[in-house]
Amino acid sequence: PRAKLLGLPGSLRRNSNSLAVLQGLRDALPAGIGMEIRDLRLPLYDQDLDTPDGPAEVQALRQAIADADGVVIVTPEYNYGMPGVLKNALDWASRPYGKSALIGKPVLVISNSPAFTGGVRAHQQVNDTLLAVSAKLVGGAQVVIGMVGEKVKEGKLADEAVLKFALGAVDKLVAAGGK
Ligand code: FNR
Repeated sequence: PRAKLLGLPGSLRRNSNSLAVLQGLRDALPAGIGMEIRDLRLPLYDQDLDTPDGPAEVQALRQAIADADGVVIVTPEYNYGMPGVLKNALDWASRPYGKSALIGKPVLVISNSPAFTGGVRAHQQVNDTLLAVSAKLVGGAQVVIGMVGEKVKEGKLADEAVLKFALGAVDKLVAAGGK
């Protein structure tokens, strides 16, 4: 493929809307762009465990980020912020200090919520964290999906207008990766 993307959902549950957004997006990608989706089920960050032979799931996540041309994070909002699951994963991925796979990595952030507000506060928090780790954020119009329950069908984002808007942002993500 022309570009290899990594999709990371900020929720672990089976029927996650965030996962459904990624699955809908993956299936709608233009030819030549592929997306692997990984869950973020990792141990809690512990600097004592953060050694070169640290947790295998963490090493695999870091490698997947390093191998990707771009990363798509789809986050829900928990109590006006990003879920701990996602923050935990970003903390793991932010290390080793100065050598994180996220440094300079193009990242697109998408938030979603069953509520009208679309998880916009979680979106902002993820952006702040990505700024801290010197990732290359895709800017411009933010992809914030409100009332997501009405837009997901059979485990996939199915709303044509939202898909089109999100695919426009994926184009920018791929362009940011130099492809
Ligand atoms: C929520 N939810 C929620 N929604 C929102 O828009 N703003 C919020 O602050 C919160 N807070 C919150 C806290 C906790 C602990 C939970 C479990 C849920 C609702 C949330 O958007 C909803 O459960 C989503 O379906 C979760 O995303 P996934 O699992 O569908 O991807």
